[in-house]
Amino acid sequence: MTILITGARGTIARSLIRQLVAAGHEVRAATRSPAPLAGLAHLPSGVDVTRVDFSAPATFASVLDGVRAVFLYAERDGLGEFLRHARTAGVEHAVLLSAASADASSADPLASMHGKAEEEVAASDLAWTFLRPGGFATNTLQWAGTIRSHGTVRDPFPDARSAPVHEADIASVALHALTGPGHRGAVHLLTGPEVLTRRRQAELIGEVVGRTVAFEIQDLDEHRRDLARWGPPEIAEALVRNAAEAVHAPVPVSPAVEQITGHPARTFATWATDHAADFAG
Ligand SMILES: NC(=O)c1ccc[n+]([C@@H]2O[C@H](COP(=O)([O-])OP(=O)(O)OC[C@H]3O[C@@H](n4cnc5c(N)ncnc54)[C@H](OP(=O)(O)O)[C@@H]3O)[C@@H](O)[C@H]2O)c1
Repeated sequence: MTILITGARGTIARSLIRQLVAAGHEVRAATRSPAPLAGLAHLPSGVDVTRVDFSAPATFASVLDGVRAVFLYAERDGLGEFLRHARTAGVEHAVLLSAASADASSADPLASMHGKAEEEVAASDLAWTFLRPGGFATNTLQWAGTIRSHGTVRDPFPDARSAPVHEADIASVALHALTGPGHRGAVHLLTGPEVLTRRRQAELIGEVVGRTVAFEIQDLDEHRRDLARWGPPEIAEALVRNAAEAVHAPVPVSPAVEQITGHPARTFATWATDHAADFAG
């Protein structure tokens, strides 16, 4: 059985491909941009890499040949058409990377984007599993440049809290959902094992790389300009609103990573150690 991993340049997709190959599964990696394999340099050798673009149905046929399960990002453009082709080609199960906030009726563009992607997958006649992670540990990579150059983090929300989840744990849950029994129709809330403020995450990165990391309160407009790289202004605004709410809102810590994978969810200190090279200047 071939497992198709779409969005193969993504951080979670790459971890998932490595874990599936190590476990002996047959994997096909699909990306919008296989040539010149940008971002795919760290895939295990021998992985079948191919092009799929959800807005170009001509790219679907060869990619779906022999596939029984597929991993998807919540990329909605063309998703419905891709799912129809997948069903016709004999795909049985889709595992969707959604988000803890997923809610198709929400006014928040991120919550609504993930909720609508879930609705589309649920309407597809494929069996499905929804992975709903909270905040990613990788979000702190946006601090890497200033930590390397000045030993500082600039952010308006030092007290915003999350339970940052390691990409390898999300990928590990995805592996179990794609290859094991009991995940069809399941919704898995995924978090790291501990609730940490942004200030504490910065301190932990400093401890791992062996330097003091100062936390500077960034001006909100400057922060909005920094967030522009993630998408249109309404996305930046949603990220600001979510961070402001995360100062006081309760943060659930989910046992799902350990329950599903059999190992405790990786701590943020472990994540920072795994990514120390990104922060060392
Ligand atoms: N950040 C959070 O806290 C958070 C929380 C909950 C849910 N999520 C979900 O998780 C997703 C992010 O997952 P991730 O970290 O694995 O994704 P990522 O590394 O940001 O990659 C996402 C997608 O972007 C494309 N991509 C990757 N590198 C690229 C590059 N250099 N140039 C152009 N396109 C590139 C890839 O698709 P192709 O290979 O097809 O180009 C990939 O599927 C979010 O989009 C959201 O849906 C995030």
